[in-house]
Amino acid sequence: MSNRVYIFDTTLRDGEQSPGVSLNMTEKLKIARQLARLGVDIIEAGFPITSPGDFAAVQAIAREVRGVTVAALARANFKDIDGAWEAIKEAEQARIHTFIATSDIHLKYKLRKDREQVIEAAVEAVKRAKKYTADVEFSAEDASRSDLDYLCRVFAAVIEAGATVINVPDTVGYSTPEEFGRFIKAIMEGTPGIEKAIVSVHCHDDLGLAVANSLAAVANGARQVEGTINGIGERAGNAALEEVVMGLYTRKDLYGLSTGFNTREIYRSSRLVSSLTGMPVQPNKAVVGKNAFAHESGIHQDGVLKERTTYEIMNPEMVGIAASNLVLGKHSGRHAFRERLLELGYNLTNEELNLAFARFKSLADKKKEITDQDLQAIVEDEIKHI
Ligand code: KIV
Ligand code: ZN
Repeated sequence: MSNRVYIFDTTLRDGEQSPGVSLNMTEKLKIARQLARLGVDIIEAGFPITSPGDFAAVQAIAREVRGVTVAALARANFKDIDGAWEAIKEAEQARIHTFIATSDIHLKYKLRKDREQVIEAAVEAVKRAKKYTADVEFSAEDASRSDLDYLCRVFAAVIEAGATVINVPDTVGYSTPEEFGRFIKAIMEGTPGIEKAIVSVHCHDDLGLAVANSLAAVANGARQVEGTINGIGERAGNAALEEVVMGLYTRKDLYGLSTGFNTREIYRSSRLVSSLTGMPVQPNKAVVGKNAFAHESGIHQDGVLKERTTYEIMNPEMVGIAASNLVLGKHSGRHAFRERLLELGYNLTNEELNLAFARFKSLADKKKEITDQDLQAIVEDEIKHI
């Protein structure tokens, strides 16, 4: 089995399904170009049948963004599939991504179809898509709540019909890592013809487990991970791709897997998606949050100044952040304080430093974060003029 994990980005489709988010064509193109620079393997550009605007944006991305596969989503019916192809046919590499639900709860209440009817619709959809492109992905919506034997039958049938990627969505973010890992393993073992397809996962974050579930899946044989930048998406969002990729990269010792990600473009991609969607990134967000490489406590700052790896498992430069950031606050120590003053051009005597540090500590008791301007004021007004 290959050690390469393909990264499928759905920021422009599932990500855009985040409540309150709506991107225009220019914004979608900007994000798509950045995703190509980031080195994602597949960009899911949209769901063309849903609106003329979505169709036009998918078409523009397919025409203009090179060096990456462009996918369009389609339900398992001919109208959606024909529309998806119309939108992506000018892509350098085009993928049709078709889906239908497979859980009994979706069959009964949403589709009002029986299991055999769903298999038939899935197979017909894949065959239709296959007329247009060799690259066809099939997703079994709500796979993680589907009966395993039935799901394996569905996957075997669509592989036989020509699907090259079979996707296992945890649509409602219900799975837990051990369970999802076992589920993927059982699909790999129980689906005839599985060796002809790439197994993909698509995890939602309702229980905050999307990244953990995705990693458990690749540990059990999945070789495509779907997700979004900053983890945006329907409800609580999708697996955050920057976390999945940095998890694989940082723990290569554990997984032995690689991606085609240009990790140095991660931070820029995160900023762009945040500013264009209007969805802020929480400060303590892993990998791309404002505090992800910030150290406040004196013990941590001292450690990082002596040797970065004491408290940093990733090099901030690897994700495109200039350097780790020592935040001066009431927990900071003398070492970090002195370093910051040196950076600001103040080389104080020991006596001046003691005095300045005492002033800094009393200010830090009143003010959460001490800025460079505060430090300048302490040194210029209170120390240099004594
Ligand atoms: O969450 C989901 O099941 C989806 C599918 C369309 C892949 O987004
Ligand atoms: Zn989804």
